[in-house]
Amino acid sequence: MRTRQILFLVLFCFISIQLTAQPAGRINFDAGWKFHLGEISGAEKSNFPDQNWRLLDLPHDWSIEGSFRPENPSGHQGGLLPGGIGWYRKKFNVAGLSGKKYFIEFDGVYKNSTVFINGHDLGTRPYGYATFQYDLTPFLQEGENHIAVKVDNSKQPDSRWYTGAGIYRHVWLISTSPVYVCQWGTFVTTPKVSSQDATVNVVTSIANDTKEKANLRIVSTLVDNAGKEVVSQTQQGKVIAESKTVLNTIIKVKYPQLWDLQNPNLYQLVTRVYAGKELKDTYTTKFGIRSIAFRADSGFFLNGKNVKILGVCNHHDLGPLGAALNDRALQRQLELLKTMGCNGIRCSHNLMAPELLEFCDKMGFLVMDETFDSWYIGKDAAPFGFQNYFKEWHEREIADMVLRDRNHPSVIFWSIGNEIKEQWFPGSTNGEEIAKELVGIIKKLDTTRFTTSAFNFIREAEKKGMTAAVDVVGFNYSIDIYDEIKQKHPEWFYLASETTSQFDSRGVYHFTLDTLVKTYADCQTSAFDDAGGGTTHEQAWKAVKERPWMSGMYIWTGFDYMGEPSPYEKLAVSSYFGIFDLCGFPKDGYYFLKSQWTKEPMVHLLPHWNWKAGQMVDVVAYTNCDEVKLSLNGQPLETKNFKSTNKMSLRWKVPFTAGVLKAEGYLNGKLVATDRVQTAGDASKIELTADRNKLEASGRDLSYITVRITDENGVIVPDADNLVHFDLEGEGSIVGVANGNAMSLEPAKGSERRAFSGMCLVVIQTTGKKGNIILKARSLGFPEEKINLESN
Ligand code: GAL
Repeated sequence: MRTRQILFLVLFCFISIQLTAQPAGRINFDAGWKFHLGEISGAEKSNFPDQNWRLLDLPHDWSIEGSFRPENPSGHQGGLLPGGIGWYRKKFNVAGLSGKKYFIEFDGVYKNSTVFINGHDLGTRPYGYATFQYDLTPFLQEGENHIAVKVDNSKQPDSRWYTGAGIYRHVWLISTSPVYVCQWGTFVTTPKVSSQDATVNVVTSIANDTKEKANLRIVSTLVDNAGKEVVSQTQQGKVIAESKTVLNTIIKVKYPQLWDLQNPNLYQLVTRVYAGKELKDTYTTKFGIRSIAFRADSGFFLNGKNVKILGVCNHHDLGPLGAALNDRALQRQLELLKTMGCNGIRCSHNLMAPELLEFCDKMGFLVMDETFDSWYIGKDAAPFGFQNYFKEWHEREIADMVLRDRNHPSVIFWSIGNEIKEQWFPGSTNGEEIAKELVGIIKKLDTTRFTTSAFNFIREAEKKGMTAAVDVVGFNYSIDIYDEIKQKHPEWFYLASETTSQFDSRGVYHFTLDTLVKTYADCQTSAFDDAGGGTTHEQAWKAVKERPWMSGMYIWTGFDYMGEPSPYEKLAVSSYFGIFDLCGFPKDGYYFLKSQWTKEPMVHLLPHWNWKAGQMVDVVAYTNCDEVKLSLNGQPLETKNFKSTNKMSLRWKVPFTAGVLKAEGYLNGKLVATDRVQTAGDASKIELTADRNKLEASGRDLSYITVRITDENGVIVPDADNLVHFDLEGEGSIVGVANGNAMSLEPAKGSERRAFSGMCLVVIQTTGKKGNIILKARSLGFPEEKINLESN
């Protein structure tokens, strides 16, 4: 990230809601684009008449704005939403071209983007998750300039999940002097780390685009978390005309503030580049001082301390916002995961927005950075997938992943692929060769992290030499052969790169506990820890917990995502795998994991308490207490503890009587936590709660409003599916609605939504103006309800 003097006019200055202070000179370029859906000829030309095109701000995903239709070629795996071709154009002014360089950087365009500046073709980037930059300088003119981007996502299906379409991440405009730090031009490592001192190694790449040699003075300054300058080091060098040079600096830090999961301390390296006396460039790099290691017998170590990785896999979509990046939406996901004790994120199966890694750095997550769901052999569900580009682009894409992300302390793994078919595909013989090639590219750029791959045919991969090619062997599922492989290769390091894949519908219960039932007539799945798919949460966690050598796990998935609607492949449009649903509402599995991964006393009771009189109900408590007293309408039922069960939950069979079922959690004989479920009467009102009432008037900040349908006493009605209409007044807009029902084909953009299991969600985004926001909710037969938010 760089701080530079920018000579641009009329540039919207993005007020970031993320915690990081954004350097001033790298200008956000999201505002004021024109958009046209569909192919159109001549749109790359400067004088193309775009006055009738839609005006919008990026990030933008046109797919999520469409309707779910079976005829959309993405199919159910891709979320049934439209792909196609889209064009974006933006006019901007430049003053002061001479002696300057200008670059444009896209954090992600899905996909096949071709970028034009004033009619000149700058290049095409097929991979929809790549971050890429173009040099605009040779084609710019004083005054008005036109940038145009063609996005071609018409060949579908190209993925096994929903991808989105468009310029769906941030865009940046960068101006530099012709002597400057290159893109991703610093690499900071910490080869020696202790609480007393640390060695910080800095490699700086500097370009000289002038016709003369430049004598350089590089001043590298470390700034701590509190903004205090810790140490500064000066380095001399030179760079010949029209060339690049690389300089190494070693900086010693006394009593460093280490980066760890509880205190994710960050430093900034401020690199100042002088040629002669003149300051040419200032470039800021955030990093953390920490050490990572593996041991074959005991897994992963952070700063010398053994840490179990308790992670989740996520795709990149943000529920009703689609793929369109919103920093707050990402931050909220991580905040929710933290409350469960989660400490890891797997970027499945491709590069995520840079902001995700920034949040992981700041909040303390252990990241598996990954690229490729296929190499040369594609997945059946994705005939137009990356396999079609792999030959030409794999070197560039894997290198760019490392170059972009190698300063993030949160990143501990580089994964070269997910469930790559070269493991087992009949006749395929080059798996080892490709794995070695990809690992080789990574190691040239970074040897401080561990390479891995998510193997689902581990015996076959082992035979083919693919497992031996990576530092850490990733098991996808296959818990029954963990020990077999470990026994065969006791010296290897292991990770449960993907586990669980349990189907759960929030708030839906089928009484089939302990039998793995895959599908039900209602096209929902049961929210008990029992429903088919891979394994239950308990089985997956137990397998990892009991094996000290297994460094940790990434559960499939933290959040439901659009597409891949197994087990109702031909009916539903979003996944059932999430610990949280598409709204970000927790399913019961969340509480199971919380009971295992956190210490703050808690007990969670399920299912809800609306059944038929006399019906025998399976009741489950997830708790980290040692004993739970259960009572129904004040009458004690059996008290249970973990001495008499080898399960990680407590279970009862209770004949249903309407009223209140209460669980009291005891630790060492002391009451420390309670939970209750209560029989709801008729649905009679709407309840609105906001995750945040005070927002920033940034035009980007979000409030997530939970809508509950309750009886007159405020008890949620577990099967309520009432249609709720929303009206918004003031300085905000509704940017998404959802209910977590994977079977729902209601649009994500709109002002109404049916409840599902008694709940739905409205997402409100602020405008750029300060003021109040009032959301009103109405539903037939209920009084109108409203909630006030403040945007400042
Ligand atoms: C895995 C795969 C994931 C997802 C998951 C669903 O095998 O790696 O991408 O498809 O299955 O269970």
